[in-house]
Amino acid sequence: MKVLGIHIGHDSSAALVVDGRIVADVAEERFTRTKHYSGLPLASISYCLKSQGLTINDIDAVAIPTAASEPELNFLLDLKGARKEKKATAGRLLENVKELFNRPAAKAPLYIKNFPIKSSTEVIHVEHHLAHAASAYYTNPVREKQLIVTMDGIGDGVSNALWRGENGKIELLERFGRSTSIGWFYSNVTEALGWWHGDGEGKTMGLAPYGDASKAHGVLDKFYPKFAKGRVVQEHEFGRNYFWNESGALQWHFDEADEIKVVVDKYGREHVAAEAQRILEEQTQELVYSWMEKEGTRNLSCAGGIFLNVKLNQRIWELGRVTRQHIYPNAGDSGLAVGAALHVFYQHNPKVPIYPIEDLSWGPEYSDAEIEAALKLRNLPCRRVENIESYAAEQLARGKIVAWFQGRMESGPRALGNRSILMSANSAENKDIINARVKFRESFRPFCPSMLWEKRADYLENPRDEFFMVTSFTCPEPKRTKVPAVVHADNTLRPQTVKKEFNPRFWNLLQQFGNLSGEPLLLNTSFNIMGEPIVTHPREAIRCFYDNGLDALVLGHFVLEK
Ligand SMILES: [Fe+2]
Repeated sequence: MKVLGIHIGHDSSAALVVDGRIVADVAEERFTRTKHYSGLPLASISYCLKSQGLTINDIDAVAIPTAASEPELNFLLDLKGARKEKKATAGRLLENVKELFNRPAAKAPLYIKNFPIKSSTEVIHVEHHLAHAASAYYTNPVREKQLIVTMDGIGDGVSNALWRGENGKIELLERFGRSTSIGWFYSNVTEALGWWHGDGEGKTMGLAPYGDASKAHGVLDKFYPKFAKGRVVQEHEFGRNYFWNESGALQWHFDEADEIKVVVDKYGREHVAAEAQRILEEQTQELVYSWMEKEGTRNLSCAGGIFLNVKLNQRIWELGRVTRQHIYPNAGDSGLAVGAALHVFYQHNPKVPIYPIEDLSWGPEYSDAEIEAALKLRNLPCRRVENIESYAAEQLARGKIVAWFQGRMESGPRALGNRSILMSANSAENKDIINARVKFRESFRPFCPSMLWEKRADYLENPRDEFFMVTSFTCPEPKRTKVPAVVHADNTLRPQTVKKEFNPRFWNLLQQFGNLSGEPLLLNTSFNIMGEPIVTHPREAIRCFYDNGLDALVLGHFVLEK
């Protein structure tokens, strides 16, 4: 059975699940080049189908990760008659766009190539948080009963939900609405610090370890809802919020951010960030642990944008009350297309096994011939190198900054060795060099390491398999000075452990770099400049290469140097 997931909203995306396996998944921002693009995922749908040699006629069901009507589907899928989606009532769409979608015979403008589905193809809506829950549950190899927790800003009127995952099924235990949104609270603090809602939260998290929560203790008390023992004990009225479309991406503002800004100015940015992080961790624990007890399980699966917070994930893990913790790595809304598609697939095929995810390489790839053509077209010198791993390892050992473009683009916000910028982590100043010369971003922001899976116990306290950079770990004392460029202010690392069978070329590179430098670990940051999506096509890689201080670009077997 072939299920196409389509998410339209913040981080629009499309995904394809075939016989229980995710075979394609990409966010539309990677094609439109607008971060968090929120329009129709036309290029993503087209890519998902093409990558598997399919057309829309081959699709058995379309999964939509919202309970709400999506009038855009009328012309995206050419829906007619009883299947027609109702009028847009949500204020999400701008007035003139609403008019376009709500016409009685809504039909795609002539210049949009839409995807008319056949009459036997089902269109199934999956509630927002259920789609998040499905992304976590149907990618978790653990088959015993588990608690699934989904938390985000809001989706379909829900901000936090708890689910029981058992025998291949997901069952709702409890859900909490907008007056309980810990996600909105954290985003409001982010806005007060000067960063965007639904984008800058990672910066707040990165800033927090530089502050001292006790110096701002209690100053945010009137801005967040409170949980105790799995229940809400104090709801919070978030007041007015505003949203608008900025260059194709939805943006938000809450009046409360202005009030929090006053607190930030009084008590200091770092300290308020630290206090917000403390509250996020405290409140999430109040919600999660008692439900685990109630359910009698120590297995936990998580999804929803809140679980992109690696420090929170570390805290949950370190307290030792969880035996197995699985976080769907594309935890934000760009992971909804996958979640909805998986849910629909397993509803129809409950006996099919659930497959663990080994990598997130579900995006576009380009052959050496295509790369060579792209270079020649631009009159760029093509130098082909056969042993590309040893070439890159040598450059990196000489302190060079190398962009590494290989195979299928990763799904989700992290680069995992296919669209990565790499540098030795052996010198503390490399972090500042890469922030200043390549990423053009704030100096406090930490970088993640990729390391050989076999060596993880050298770099991580209390290690476990961590393939996707979704949890931070404390770095043992002896290694802190060996790889200082990736050790954060609180002595933690946010690692990707690389298994040879999951990404042989990247594994070889790490090993060869280890032979030359003594540390089989590299600083790995996503291949983009701050504010832009990760590069998809070689042309974007080339553009990015010449727009910053990178030393070398490795595209497949081809090399460009400055
Ligand atoms: Fe969400």
